[in-house]
Amino acid sequence: MLECYEIEGGIPLRGEYRVRGAKNSALPILAATVCRSGIYEIYDCPRIEDVFAMEEILKALGAKTKWERDCIVVDSRGISESAVPRELMSEMRSSVFLMGSLLARCDEATIFRPGGCNIGKRPIDIHISGLEQLGFEVYLEEEKISCKGRSHGGKITLPYPSVGATENLMMAALCGSGDTIIENCAVEPEIEDLQGFLRTCGFQVYGGGTNTIFVKGAKGSVLTTPRQVMYFLLEDRIEAATYMMAVLGTRGRGVFRNIRAEFISDVLNVFERMNANVRTYESNIEVWATDRLKSPGIVVTQPYPGFPTDCQPQLMTLASVSRGLTTIREEVFESRFTHKNDLLNMGADIETCGKNAIIKGVPKLQGREVTALDLRGGAALVLAGLFAEGKTTVKDTFHIRRGYEDFEKGIKSLGGIIEKKG
Ligand code: EPZ
Repeated sequence: MLECYEIEGGIPLRGEYRVRGAKNSALPILAATVCRSGIYEIYDCPRIEDVFAMEEILKALGAKTKWERDCIVVDSRGISESAVPRELMSEMRSSVFLMGSLLARCDEATIFRPGGCNIGKRPIDIHISGLEQLGFEVYLEEEKISCKGRSHGGKITLPYPSVGATENLMMAALCGSGDTIIENCAVEPEIEDLQGFLRTCGFQVYGGGTNTIFVKGAKGSVLTTPRQVMYFLLEDRIEAATYMMAVLGTRGRGVFRNIRAEFISDVLNVFERMNANVRTYESNIEVWATDRLKSPGIVVTQPYPGFPTDCQPQLMTLASVSRGLTTIREEVFESRFTHKNDLLNMGADIETCGKNAIIKGVPKLQGREVTALDLRGGAALVLAGLFAEGKTTVKDTFHIRRGYEDFEKGIKSLGGIIEKKG
């Protein structure tokens, strides 16, 4: 039987939770350990399936890895392969980051087209055109993508501030004769975190977190001279926002440690529009709700610092039990309403049309058997189970373990009734 969560709803969540290191920092930074020979200690790394998948890829390329509590140690001195095994690519799209890091280290890279997923086609055309503008030769086959050469630098303007393309091109530009300017790049905090890591590796990268990044091309000898690095990951703003919505939807109260309000200001603004109480002090945020929340009105997902698409499914669930009509417009991915059908199955009142979802709040959801179809949609169904009357079973929780470490333990630590089965 596939793993599932059994949840008893209706209990107000109360307590404290320390936010973990960010999945969307860990993945590009683990890929970046390939860029230069070295031994890398990466602290506060979440033990999640996507990190384990990236770890398997690094080992297949010739790196050694080991865990010391929440620190993963990567020894990339023995990197000898420049092709990511096909069977390891399909497990996780983020392996596309390895194009950039392998090109920096080995002047060549072969990956297999990362599959789409439930939230959209997720093409990599922006990655490919950026690599070609840097001077790399890119060979596109049915399933395989091979690249080789060295960056001659130059100015690249991204047609869309793609997070992954920004990170991939930052890494691909590290080694070569020229310097690179990337314009209209993504400004997510995880980009600045990758820049911070690359700087500790001895590279000159500037502008991370702004829409123009500068990368100074390093000589090949720099990349083969081993480096010893210790790095602490940024906190996971999406994990924090997910737990906060669990607390608010159950009319509870939670104190969240190790989360800076500046990284989720748009999310906190939506909470306040819903009549939730929010208190921030240093790197802590306290949220609570004594009554049923109200609709935040219209919420549009946008690249950072707008409302994050990775919090959209969870907000749909929260809006489902709030008073009034909420409109959510998903502007980042083309099909990220996969969780809607199971929410309807639980008694929610949701209409979707193209990018728009109209949610009419209902007083209560009913516990049902539901199925996670993707990472954030699965988390949204766990929240629905916490808000519902009676018992909810969420099946296929592997999707959730891709991005949340011990999600059931975190919910339990806040007083929720949830058991992992199977
Ligand atoms: C990163 O994905 C995150 N993943 C996603 O988090 C997040 O939702 C997304 O950024 C947006 O913030 C990681 O960082 C590992 P994009 P990424 O390239 O890099 C289109 C989660 O739940 N696009 O910014 O794939 C694309 O189809 C995950 O933690 C192109 O058209 O996102 C999408 O519509 C989900 N061509 C939009 O841009 C390209 O070459 C945003 O994609 C690249 C992207």
